[in-house]
Amino acid sequence: AAFSAHGAAAQDYPAQPITIIVPFSAGGPTDTVTRLVAQAMSEDLGQQIVVQNVGGAGGTLGAAQAATAAADGYTLLLHHIGMSTAPALYQSLPYDPQTDFAPIGLVTEVPMTIVARRDFEPETLEDLLAHIRENGENITYANAGVGAASQLCGMLLMDALDTRMTEVPYQGTGPAMTDLLGGQIDMMCDQTTNTTTQIQAGEIKAYAVTTPERIDALPDVPTAAEGGLENFELAIWHGLYAPVGTDPAIVERLSASLQTALATETVAQSFADLGTAPVPADQATPDALAEKLATQTELWAEVVAAAGVTPQ
Ligand code: MLT
Repeated sequence: AAFSAHGAAAQDYPAQPITIIVPFSAGGPTDTVTRLVAQAMSEDLGQQIVVQNVGGAGGTLGAAQAATAAADGYTLLLHHIGMSTAPALYQSLPYDPQTDFAPIGLVTEVPMTIVARRDFEPETLEDLLAHIRENGENITYANAGVGAASQLCGMLLMDALDTRMTEVPYQGTGPAMTDLLGGQIDMMCDQTTNTTTQIQAGEIKAYAVTTPERIDALPDVPTAAEGGLENFELAIWHGLYAPVGTDPAIVERLSASLQTALATETVAQSFADLGTAPVPADQATPDALAEKLATQTELWAEVVAAAGVTPQ
């Protein structure tokens, strides 16, 4: 036959709406990035893209669901750095990020911010570090569960200060932000895609950004190093994946569409407003994401072990 069944499916692709699983709550940082990209990809592909939020267990529930979805190009996963940290944080993850997915491409790298409710006592990062050392477990710290970026950042912070805070897990930092705004939680470390607007409006306190330089969207927020926290740099990279076994022609089409979406002016501008930027086109590729995932998985295994964290 001139065409295999696969080839025909790839030629017609996409013939129906595509679902992108976001492994965290709606309204949070991963959801925000996904919806911006999905909108532009949808225009490029001429098909509707539905964002499905499957929160829980630090992003591992949504990833597990995507890993076992049909490999037909109609269920995708947009996940972040958690794809590389979860294998070190869980004893038995129900999927292997490196073998159960076909990488499509990198999407963006998002800085983090250390933030607190607006009436939290410490004024500067220096004050905050002293306050944490002094009050430890009396401080409540929101995160999106083991495997989340917010959890990773908090783990590194507690390790750097050699102290514990009381962790309060959510299904995403979207709902955690609601509680931070309401003053029910003391602090969190969260991506600029979720914190920039609230920081700019003065609704929460910001102590530091986790980038080597200050960022344009938040010029008044010092870097962690400026505030006395050395070697505290963290960039939350995001990638788009299909289940392993997806036709390479479909993966190729999705990667091309991702590149088109990231080059869209409105996407770039929305990202910039939130303190981030799309990756260059040559990073929105299967190879670049596979490489990033491999090197980051190795790195975080070492860091987690060095921090003395026992996988759960
Ligand atoms: C989210 O989308 O809620 C976040 O990415 C959670 C996190 O990883 O901290």
